[in-house]
Amino acid sequence: MKKIICLLLILPCFLIIASREEDAIKQRLVKVGNVCIQGEDCSALIAAVSSEKPLLLSERSGIEVYKTACTTCHSIGLAGAPKFGDKSTWGNRQDKGIEALVVSVMNGLNGMPKMGLCMDCTKEEMNSAVDYMLSELK
Ligand code: HEC
Repeated sequence: MKKIICLLLILPCFLIIASREEDAIKQRLVKVGNVCIQGEDCSALIAAVSSEKPLLLSERSGIEVYKTACTTCHSIGLAGAPKFGDKSTWGNRQDKGIEALVVSVMNGLNGMPKMGLCMDCTKEEMNSAVDYMLSELK
């Protein structure tokens, strides 16, 4: 009999702990699994999602972007691309200023396709890549 009473006293504790953990898990899942239906008040959800970091985990450095996307053409001057590290092939492009150069890459320019083929690059990453290319010019 004592054992049963003992058990009856302890059992609710377990239930409370278990339900708290469940709540915590539910809260963690809500951001991923929640769907906002048109007409509902979704502002809380939008705030929760937009305050999170984008899927792209961290910004790539200029050298990383250059090596993955730009080197194909710029290392050897393919299709008339100004060569990496070779000032003589860049002419007066630098005079345009970095912003204009970044715009050229993002929009594409003659033999250079849009985004210099780095389709998932952000403007910041593109800026870093161009900055890196300019800094290596000799
Ligand atoms: C498919 C080849 C190709 C790839 C890939 C490529 N470029 Fe180019 N790029 C070119 C060519 C060709 C030009 C010269 C275009 C012209 O002036 O006719 C050029 C020009 C440039 C210029 C000078 C633009 C100007 O306004 O004078 C910059 C800066 C540049 N590229 C940066 C990049 C960066 C950064 C990447 C990678 C994200 C990249 N390029 C990828 C071919 C390429």
